[in-house]
Amino acid sequence: MKENARQYLTDDVSGKNLTKTSFYKEVFLFCSMDKQQVIKRTRAYVKKTLQGAEGGHDWFHIERVYHNALLIARGEEVNLFIVELGALLHDIADSKFHDGNEQIGPQKAAAFLQSLEIDEEITDHIVKIIKNISFKSSLDHKGSQKFNSPEFRVVQDADRLDAIGAIGIARAFNYGGFKNRLMYDPDILPKLEQDKESYKKSKAPTINHFYEKLLLLKDKMNTRTGKKIAKERHVFMEQFLQQFYAEWEGKV
Ligand code: ADP
Ligand code: NI
Repeated sequence: MKENARQYLTDDVSGKNLTKTSFYKEVFLFCSMDKQQVIKRTRAYVKKTLQGAEGGHDWFHIERVYHNALLIARGEEVNLFIVELGALLHDIADSKFHDGNEQIGPQKAAAFLQSLEIDEEITDHIVKIIKNISFKSSLDHKGSQKFNSPEFRVVQDADRLDAIGAIGIARAFNYGGFKNRLMYDPDILPKLEQDKESYKKSKAPTINHFYEKLLLLKDKMNTRTGKKIAKERHVFMEQFLQQFYAEWEGKV
């Protein structure tokens, strides 16, 4: 990409004899067009790679996270290009579907970005977002976060919003079904204090996942917009659980 940009500059300055202002305007146009092109190609790559993925971790999940990220980013000072690419590539190879391998996602994303000749610093940043975004990785280093940046905080909130509320409920039961888990067993209690390994190994009923992750997210949000939306979605999940137990016990 840099090569092309440099080429564009030399050709145009010598060829058209641009004034300084229109020269920068042209450069800006070139760069922004190029970024749009990168986003377009990334979308196509992710869509293709996730064909046939489990319903909660498919292209539509990515598209929702992408839209959440754009919405949250409006209230934050961030490099939007990094946010967009981070959101699009964050689940390119989720370890849950790759025998627990946590390297493959970041590696795949890095290789793809390198193939588009994206700036090394930007690629590094996006890879760090992907490595650290997941809930289980937050169980790894309680309190102190391994990596943080304004862009990371936006993408993480965008992903977390898709894990809660109506969509969050649907995704949890879809994943539970995919793994052939029970919906609920009153005798199997949720594990409220879990480390990363035990979280990864859990085969507990889907309702337990609400207590082990989904209901904890509201207080882990990073951004103002993220916190506000999470609060509303949290209330919806609590109402769902009340109704679920009432129906389970034949009380409604
Ligand atoms: P990450 O660590 O990438 O955030 P999670 O393992 O928390 O990933 O899962 C992401 C989504 O997958 C959850 O929000 C939920 O929808 C679904 N999921 C994961 N584990 C479970 C589970 N044990 N029961 C039900 N749904 C799950
Ligand atoms: Ni995700």
